[in-house]
Amino acid sequence: MNDAAIRDLGETLARYSQLPYERAWSMPRAFYTDPRVLNHEAESLFLREWICVGREEEVAKPGDYFVFRIWKESVVIMRGKDGKLRAFSNVCRHRGALIASGSGNRHLLLCPYHNWSYDTLGRLVATPGIDPRDDFDRADCRLPEFACTIWHGFIFVSLADNPQPLAPMLTELETLVRPYHLEEMKLRYLADEVWPVNWKCLVENFMEGYHLTPLHRETLHPVNPSRLCSHFPPGDAYFGYNAGFDPSLPRSQGGHPDLSDAEAANCVMAAIPPGLVIGCAGDYSSFLCVQPDSVDHVRVKMGLIFFGADWPQERVDWAVDLFQRTMGEDKEVLVGLMQGLNSRHQRPGPLARADLEGPTWDFYKYLNRRLGAALRAVSDEVGAPR
Ligand code: FES
Ligand SMILES: [Fe+2]
Repeated sequence: MNDAAIRDLGETLARYSQLPYERAWSMPRAFYTDPRVLNHEAESLFLREWICVGREEEVAKPGDYFVFRIWKESVVIMRGKDGKLRAFSNVCRHRGALIASGSGNRHLLLCPYHNWSYDTLGRLVATPGIDPRDDFDRADCRLPEFACTIWHGFIFVSLADNPQPLAPMLTELETLVRPYHLEEMKLRYLADEVWPVNWKCLVENFMEGYHLTPLHRETLHPVNPSRLCSHFPPGDAYFGYNAGFDPSLPRSQGGHPDLSDAEAANCVMAAIPPGLVIGCAGDYSSFLCVQPDSVDHVRVKMGLIFFGADWPQERVDWAVDLFQRTMGEDKEVLVGLMQGLNSRHQRPGPLARADLEGPTWDFYKYLNRRLGAALRAVSDEVGAPR
């Protein structure tokens, strides 16, 4: 593909943004298969926007940390001995080895290569074998720190220099999810996976109710059938839909007392793009932190959080099993979808009514706002910066 094809994708996003929903179509396959699109997404989205990296309770105590990769940047999220949560570049100031891995609790982060160490505030505290010298002062050296904030128990990090505060961007979404009290829910299941599919396909899949009945006939359809899905208006930094629970099925456990009956009978499916999708329900909720690994692989950190401390393990196991079977069905179809998008015979198709596929259209409009101009500005000039 030439650069004109990338510009065409930007033009298509702009054109779609002007169309009424009744004329909504899916995006051309190059949007999901061209690595140059991904490079622009990295610059315009993942290295710039607020990115969800996990749950606050993963780092509940001073010294708790975990590592998360935002695009190609390794970030360590750590609670300092002062109780404050911070996000640091996980790259050693000596020669660039990755310092921490996985998760744990430490009062010092020790680089495995030559054992330089950093305290929980990101300060370089030991440089064994480095003699005193006038061109290097350990006290001036620390790990770069990134903006870090909490929203309803979710940790967001931005690699941008001065990001706009996150919460004011989500005010209307906040009113929808507040009664569920996600911040009080407890993490009981967490998994990291890599799926061979473009990251946007996974976001779109989680965010449309059209497939709930046909694809998840034995798993989700009895709980959240497609016919009970309804679209809600998107904001600049979020979009989503409501997935109603089948009224004939009692929910397994009550949620927060703030919930009205209508809210308890509903699951708010919300995306805070580019990297977070949530299925927010009264008794328990699910989330996916989505990161592109390459144009056709996505890293997913997925979890389930439960309201109330008294969930017996067998009920948690039941929810985890349903989630895993559902995600297995999604994965199988998305692996095939990615093969389909790589077929030269694939063409865009019309989207179903807004209650079923409206969020896909909202996602395109978001991508037009954040990414479209960069795609349209791609230049054919030899050696032009990208
Ligand atoms: S690269 Fe970390 S101590 Fe050398
Ligand atoms: Fe699904």
